[in-house]
Amino acid sequence: MPVLLPAALEPFLDLLRCPICRAPRLDPDRGALRCPAGHSFDIARHGYVSLLTGTRATSGDDAAMVRSRDRFLSTGRYTTIRQAVASLAAGTASEHGTVVDVGCGTGYYLAGVLDQLPGARGLGLDSSVRALRSAARLHERAAAASWDVFRPFPLADGVADVVLDVFAPRNPSEFHRVLRPTGRLIVVRPTGRHLAELRGQVPALVTIDPAKEERLHKGLDPFFEAVVTEQIEYSTPLTGQEALDLVGMTPSARHLNRADLDDDGVLPDRVTVSVLATAYRPR
Ligand SMILES: C[S@@+](CC[C@H](N)C(=O)[O-])C[C@H]1O[C@@H](n2cnc3c(N)ncnc32)[C@H](O)[C@@H]1O
Ligand SMILES: [Zn+2]
Repeated sequence: MPVLLPAALEPFLDLLRCPICRAPRLDPDRGALRCPAGHSFDIARHGYVSLLTGTRATSGDDAAMVRSRDRFLSTGRYTTIRQAVASLAAGTASEHGTVVDVGCGTGYYLAGVLDQLPGARGLGLDSSVRALRSAARLHERAAAASWDVFRPFPLADGVADVVLDVFAPRNPSEFHRVLRPTGRLIVVRPTGRHLAELRGQVPALVTIDPAKEERLHKGLDPFFEAVVTEQIEYSTPLTGQEALDLVGMTPSARHLNRADLDDDGVLPDRVTVSVLATAYRPR
Protein backbone atom coordinates (compact mmCIF):
# COMPACT_ATOMS: atom_id res chain seq x y z
CA MET A 1 0.00 0.00 0.00
CA PRO A 2 1.46 3.42 -0.90
CA VAL A 3 2.53 5.60 2.00
CA LEU A 4 0.29 8.61 2.51
CA LEU A 5 1.70 12.10 2.36
CA PRO A 6 2.36 13.13 5.98
CA ALA A 7 0.19 16.16 6.81
CA ALA A 8 3.19 18.07 8.15
CA LEU A 9 4.96 17.75 4.79
CA GLU A 10 2.12 19.26 2.78
CA PRO A 11 2.83 22.93 3.52
CA PHE A 12 6.43 22.39 2.40
CA LEU A 13 5.64 21.16 -1.13
CA ASP A 14 5.78 24.73 -2.47
CA LEU A 15 8.98 25.53 -0.57
CA LEU A 16 10.98 22.46 -1.55
CA ARG A 17 13.17 22.37 -4.63
CA CYS A 18 14.07 19.24 -6.50
CA PRO A 19 17.53 18.37 -5.12
CA ILE A 20 18.61 17.11 -8.55
CA CYS A 21 17.34 19.67 -11.09
CA ARG A 22 16.28 22.48 -8.71
CA ALA A 23 12.72 22.45 -10.13
CA PRO A 24 10.69 24.75 -7.91
CA ARG A 25 8.08 22.25 -6.89
CA LEU A 26 7.64 18.66 -5.72
CA ASP A 27 4.30 16.89 -5.93
CA PRO A 28 3.07 13.85 -4.07
CA ASP A 29 2.84 10.76 -6.23
CA ARG A 30 2.17 7.27 -4.82
CA GLY A 31 4.32 7.26 -1.72
CA ALA A 32 6.89 9.63 -3.17
CA LEU A 33 7.49 13.27 -4.04
CA ARG A 34 8.15 13.88 -7.71
CA CYS A 35 9.42 16.93 -9.64
CA PRO A 36 8.03 17.86 -13.09
CA ALA A 37 11.13 16.27 -14.71
CA GLY A 38 10.33 12.96 -13.02
CA HIS A 39 12.92 12.86 -10.22
CA SER A 40 11.34 10.91 -7.43
CA PHE A 41 11.97 10.80 -3.67
CA ASP A 42 10.44 8.15 -1.46
CA ILE A 43 8.39 8.96 1.58
CA ALA A 44 9.49 6.43 4.19
CA ARG A 45 6.81 4.63 6.11
CA HIS A 46 8.30 6.34 9.17
CA GLY A 47 7.10 9.64 7.75
CA TYR A 48 10.24 11.41 6.49
CA VAL A 49 11.05 12.05 2.83
CA SER A 50 14.35 10.77 1.44
CA LEU A 51 15.71 13.72 -0.49
CA LEU A 52 19.29 12.53 -0.10
CA THR A 53 19.55 9.94 -2.84
CA GLY A 54 22.26 8.40 -4.95
CA THR A 55 24.94 8.30 -2.27
CA ARG A 56 25.12 6.56 1.01
CA ALA A 57 25.06 9.03 3.88
CA THR A 58 28.63 9.28 5.08
CA SER A 59 27.82 11.07 8.28
CA GLY A 60 25.03 11.22 10.77
CA ASP A 61 24.18 9.46 13.99
CA ASP A 62 23.75 5.70 14.01
CA ALA A 63 20.90 3.84 15.72
CA ALA A 64 22.66 3.46 19.07
CA MET A 65 23.56 7.16 19.22
CA VAL A 66 20.00 8.16 18.40
CA ARG A 67 18.63 5.86 21.11
CA SER A 68 21.00 7.41 23.65
CA ARG A 69 20.10 10.94 22.54
CA ASP A 70 16.39 10.21 22.68
CA ARG A 71 16.62 8.63 26.13
CA PHE A 72 18.80 11.42 27.50
CA LEU A 73 16.68 14.28 26.12
CA SER A 74 13.51 12.68 27.50
CA THR A 75 14.92 13.01 31.05
CA GLY A 76 14.44 16.78 30.82
CA ARG A 77 18.06 17.58 31.77
CA TYR A 78 18.30 19.88 28.71
CA THR A 79 14.87 21.51 29.11
CA THR A 80 16.54 24.81 29.97
CA ILE A 81 18.41 24.81 26.65
CA ARG A 82 15.22 23.95 24.78
CA GLN A 83 13.36 26.81 26.49
CA ALA A 84 16.13 29.29 25.65
CA VAL A 85 16.05 28.25 21.99
CA ALA A 86 12.26 28.45 21.89
CA SER A 87 12.15 31.93 23.38
CA LEU A 88 14.86 33.22 21.03
CA ALA A 89 12.79 31.84 18.13
CA ALA A 90 9.50 33.18 19.48
CA GLY A 91 11.09 36.62 19.86
CA THR A 92 11.78 36.78 16.14
CA ALA A 93 9.31 34.66 14.19
CA SER A 94 5.62 35.27 13.75
CA GLU A 95 3.22 32.66 15.06
CA HIS A 96 2.78 31.40 11.50
CA GLY A 97 6.40 31.23 10.54
CA THR A 98 8.48 28.52 8.91
CA VAL A 99 11.21 26.93 10.99
CA VAL A 100 13.99 24.82 9.47
CA ASP A 101 16.09 22.76 11.90
CA VAL A 102 19.38 21.72 10.32
CA GLY A 103 20.94 18.62 11.87
CA CYS A 104 17.67 18.26 13.75
CA GLY A 105 18.50 14.88 15.32
CA THR A 106 15.42 13.51 17.04
CA GLY A 107 13.57 16.82 16.57
CA TYR A 108 13.67 17.78 20.24
CA TYR A 109 14.50 21.47 19.75
CA LEU A 110 12.28 21.89 16.68
CA ALA A 111 9.33 20.54 18.67
CA GLY A 112 10.11 22.97 21.49
CA VAL A 113 10.09 25.91 19.07
CA LEU A 114 6.84 24.80 17.38
CA ASP A 115 5.16 24.56 20.79
CA GLN A 116 5.98 28.24 21.30
CA LEU A 117 4.66 29.23 17.85
CA PRO A 118 1.18 27.72 17.58
CA GLY A 119 0.67 28.39 13.84
CA ALA A 120 4.21 27.67 12.68
CA ARG A 121 5.40 24.74 10.59
CA GLY A 122 8.74 23.03 10.89
CA LEU A 123 11.09 21.01 8.71
CA GLY A 124 13.93 19.00 10.20
CA LEU A 125 16.88 18.08 7.98
CA ASP A 126 19.40 15.43 9.00
CA SER A 127 21.56 12.83 7.28
CA SER A 128 20.69 10.17 9.86
CA VAL A 129 17.58 8.23 8.88
CA ARG A 130 17.46 6.81 12.41
CA ALA A 131 17.17 10.33 13.79
CA LEU A 132 14.57 11.26 11.16
CA ARG A 133 12.28 8.43 12.22
CA SER A 134 11.90 10.24 15.50
CA ALA A 135 11.92 13.77 14.05
CA ALA A 136 9.05 12.91 11.69
CA ARG A 137 6.86 11.89 14.63
CA LEU A 138 7.77 14.17 17.47
CA HIS A 139 5.45 17.04 16.61
CA GLU A 140 2.33 17.19 14.43
CA ARG A 141 3.57 20.34 12.64
CA ALA A 142 7.10 19.02 12.04
CA ALA A 143 8.08 17.33 8.80
CA ALA A 144 11.44 15.68 8.25
CA ALA A 145 13.71 15.04 5.27
CA SER A 146 17.07 13.41 4.81
CA TRP A 147 19.70 15.89 3.72
CA ASP A 148 23.42 16.60 3.95
CA VAL A 149 24.11 20.00 5.50
CA PHE A 150 27.09 20.50 3.21
CA ARG A 151 25.07 20.35 0.00
CA PRO A 152 22.81 23.11 -1.36
CA PHE A 153 19.58 22.79 0.62
CA PRO A 154 16.50 21.41 -1.19
CA LEU A 155 14.64 24.63 -0.40
CA ALA A 156 13.70 27.77 -2.30
CA ASP A 157 15.30 31.14 -1.43
CA GLY A 158 14.02 33.20 1.48
CA VAL A 159 11.42 30.78 2.79
CA ALA A 160 12.48 30.37 6.45
CA ASP A 161 11.73 32.69 9.35
CA VAL A 162 13.99 30.72 11.65
CA VAL A 163 16.89 28.38 10.92
CA LEU A 164 17.99 26.35 13.94
CA ASP A 165 21.39 24.79 14.28
CA VAL A 166 21.80 23.06 17.63
CA PHE A 167 25.07 21.18 18.18
CA ALA A 168 25.07 20.45 14.46
CA PRO A 169 27.27 21.11 11.41
CA ARG A 170 26.76 24.46 9.68
CA ASN A 171 26.49 25.79 6.14
CA PRO A 172 26.46 29.61 6.49
CA SER A 173 25.82 30.50 2.83
CA GLU A 174 22.87 28.12 2.60
CA PHE A 175 21.48 29.32 5.95
CA HIS A 176 21.60 32.81 4.46
CA ARG A 177 19.99 31.84 1.16
CA VAL A 178 16.98 30.07 2.69
CA LEU A 179 16.30 32.70 5.37
CA ARG A 180 14.01 35.66 4.76
CA PRO A 181 15.79 39.00 5.16
CA THR A 182 13.89 39.47 8.43
CA GLY A 183 14.57 35.93 9.62
CA ARG A 184 16.93 34.70 12.29
CA LEU A 185 19.54 31.98 12.50
CA ILE A 186 19.81 30.45 15.98
CA VAL A 187 23.03 28.60 16.74
CA VAL A 188 23.62 26.60 19.93
CA ARG A 189 27.10 25.29 20.73
CA PRO A 190 28.96 24.10 23.84
CA THR A 191 31.45 26.21 25.77
CA GLY A 192 34.69 24.75 27.09
CA ARG A 193 32.97 23.99 30.43
CA HIS A 194 30.19 21.88 28.92
CA LEU A 195 30.14 18.40 30.51
CA ALA A 196 33.63 19.10 31.90
CA GLU A 197 33.27 16.54 34.72
CA LEU A 198 32.39 13.85 32.22
CA ARG A 199 35.19 14.82 29.85
CA GLY A 200 37.59 14.60 32.78
CA GLN A 201 36.56 11.00 33.44
CA VAL A 202 36.13 9.79 29.89
CA PRO A 203 39.24 10.80 27.95
CA ALA A 204 37.84 9.42 24.68
CA LEU A 205 35.09 12.08 24.75
CA VAL A 206 35.78 14.61 22.05
CA THR A 207 37.31 17.69 23.65
CA ILE A 208 35.93 21.09 22.83
CA ASP A 209 38.44 22.92 20.69
CA PRO A 210 39.02 26.42 22.14
CA ALA A 211 39.37 27.81 18.59
CA LYS A 212 35.84 26.64 17.77
CA GLU A 213 34.16 29.93 18.74
CA GLU A 214 36.53 31.86 16.52
CA ARG A 215 35.88 29.51 13.62
CA LEU A 216 32.14 29.88 14.12
CA HIS A 217 32.40 33.67 13.92
CA LYS A 218 34.73 33.59 10.92
CA GLY A 219 32.39 31.26 9.06
CA LEU A 220 29.22 33.21 9.81
CA ASP A 221 30.58 36.75 9.64
CA PRO A 222 30.27 37.27 5.85
CA PHE A 223 26.58 36.36 6.04
CA PHE A 224 25.33 37.13 9.53
CA GLU A 225 25.51 39.60 12.37
CA ALA A 226 24.94 38.45 15.97
CA VAL A 227 21.92 40.11 17.59
CA VAL A 228 21.86 38.49 21.01
CA THR A 229 23.77 35.72 22.78
CA GLU A 230 22.52 33.87 25.82
CA GLN A 231 24.77 31.87 28.03
CA ILE A 232 23.03 28.90 29.59
CA GLU A 233 25.01 27.33 32.39
CA TYR A 234 23.88 25.11 35.23
CA SER A 235 24.83 22.03 37.16
CA THR A 236 22.60 18.99 36.95
CA PRO A 237 22.56 15.65 38.76
CA LEU A 238 23.29 12.67 36.58
CA THR A 239 22.32 9.03 37.00
CA GLY A 240 24.63 6.32 35.72
CA GLN A 241 22.36 5.70 32.73
CA GLU A 242 22.21 9.40 31.91
CA ALA A 243 26.01 9.62 31.99
CA LEU A 244 26.26 6.61 29.69
CA ASP A 245 23.75 8.17 27.33
CA LEU A 246 25.59 11.50 27.25
CA VAL A 247 28.69 9.58 26.17
CA GLY A 248 26.67 7.29 23.91
CA MET A 249 25.15 10.15 21.91
CA THR A 250 28.56 11.47 20.85
CA PRO A 251 30.75 10.06 18.09
CA SER A 252 33.28 9.01 20.78
CA ALA A 253 30.88 6.24 21.73
CA ARG A 254 32.04 4.30 18.69
CA HIS A 255 35.51 3.97 20.19
CA LEU A 256 34.42 3.08 23.70
CA ASN A 257 33.74 -0.23 25.26
CA ARG A 258 30.67 0.14 27.42
CA ALA A 259 32.20 -2.09 30.11
CA ASP A 260 34.99 0.51 30.50
CA LEU A 261 32.37 3.01 31.61
CA ASP A 262 30.27 0.84 33.83
CA ASP A 263 32.88 0.57 36.58
CA ASP A 264 31.67 2.16 39.79
CA GLY A 265 33.01 5.57 40.56
CA VAL A 266 34.25 6.35 37.07
CA LEU A 267 31.29 8.45 36.04
CA PRO A 268 30.43 11.73 37.80
CA ASP A 269 27.04 12.08 39.52
CA ARG A 270 26.78 15.78 38.61
CA VAL A 271 27.74 17.60 35.48
CA THR A 272 27.98 21.18 34.24
CA VAL A 273 25.82 22.10 31.28
CA SER A 274 27.27 25.16 29.55
CA VAL A 275 26.21 26.34 26.12
CA LEU A 276 25.85 29.57 24.15
CA ALA A 277 22.75 30.30 22.09
CA THR A 278 23.06 33.15 19.59
CA ALA A 279 20.42 34.69 17.33
CA TYR A 280 21.90 36.13 14.13
CA ARG A 281 20.35 38.45 11.55
CA PRO A 282 21.24 38.04 7.88
CA ARG A 283 23.47 40.75 6.41
C1 LIG B 1 25.11 16.44 18.04
S1 LIG B 1 23.74 15.95 17.05
C2 LIG B 1 22.54 17.22 17.39
C3 LIG B 1 21.12 16.82 17.07
C4 LIG B 1 20.04 17.80 17.54
N1 LIG B 1 20.18 19.12 16.94
C5 LIG B 1 20.08 17.89 19.05
O1 LIG B 1 20.76 18.79 19.56
O2 LIG B 1 19.47 17.06 19.71
C6 LIG B 1 24.28 16.31 15.42
C7 LIG B 1 23.28 15.92 14.36
O3 LIG B 1 23.79 16.31 13.09
C8 LIG B 1 23.56 15.25 12.18
N2 LIG B 1 24.57 15.37 11.11
C9 LIG B 1 25.89 15.12 11.17
N3 LIG B 1 26.47 15.38 9.99
C10 LIG B 1 25.49 15.80 9.15
C11 LIG B 1 25.46 16.22 7.79
N4 LIG B 1 26.55 16.29 7.05
N5 LIG B 1 24.26 16.57 7.27
C12 LIG B 1 23.13 16.53 8.01
N6 LIG B 1 23.10 16.16 9.30
C13 LIG B 1 24.27 15.80 9.87
C14 LIG B 1 23.67 13.99 13.00
O4 LIG B 1 23.00 12.89 12.41
C15 LIG B 1 23.01 14.43 14.31
O5 LIG B 1 21.64 14.20 14.30
ZN1 LIG C 1 14.06 17.21 -10.66
